[in-house]
Amino acid sequence: MSDRPPPQPDLPGLAFSEAAARNRDPILAQLRAHLPPEAAVLELASGTGQHAAHVAAACPGWFWQPTDVDAGALQTIPARCAGLPNVAPAQRLDVCRDPWPGLEGQTGGWTAVFAANLVHISPWAVTPALMQGAARVLAPGGWLLLYGPFVVDGEPLAASNAAFDASLRARDPAWGLRRLADLQAQADAAGLQWHGRQVMPANNLFLAWRRPH
Ligand SMILES: C[S@@+](CC[C@H](N)C(=O)[O-])C[C@H]1O[C@@H](n2cnc3c(N)ncnc32)[C@H](O)[C@@H]1O
Repeated sequence: MSDRPPPQPDLPGLAFSEAAARNRDPILAQLRAHLPPEAAVLELASGTGQHAAHVAAACPGWFWQPTDVDAGALQTIPARCAGLPNVAPAQRLDVCRDPWPGLEGQTGGWTAVFAANLVHISPWAVTPALMQGAARVLAPGGWLLLYGPFVVDGEPLAASNAAFDASLRARDPAWGLRRLADLQAQADAAGLQWHGRQVMPANNLFLAWRRPH
């Protein structure tokens, strides 16, 4: 256990994720390590909008399109991102069902599709839909970047991740930590090329694939 006090909400009254407050800087560092100074990023499952707000404020050269399927999230995101000129109005996007937004006025497609903490807190069908959708909307050479806890064959699962997996499955049997090998099979089917993974704090990973040039 950490002795540090839990992060405090940045804006009173708005939905707030302590986890997002803790992991926002490591995620920002990975996004910066992968993306050029000018980029257009489609974020899936933006949730509370904390990543959108933090990243867009830190990287004014990035155009950020937040999305989520949840009506509450679609109200929270614009409230949290108010005043950030590089954040587009939040759009409803059910990864499995809705048409994915294109990039207005540009033909090449998104520089990156980014999602944090989506594939384990949604049914498995979201993962193949995510891979297929990203392959459709990314620019050639564009990045699919995923953050969260994953199961890696041949590597021990941290006790905290095993407990988290059990708690997710108890909440919804369709949820649960995903095997990186299963994600890779879906990425292969979508024609996305594996780039690599970074170890993140608290037994999370940052995963990267690219649409071929
Ligand atoms: C655990 S939250 C993660 C939020 C944020 N990305 C973060 O890391 O703090 C999971 C999010 O996934 C969204 N979600 C679940 N199923 C989805 C789907 N089929 N399409 C789009 N978003 C979905 C939920 O509405 C929720 O906002």
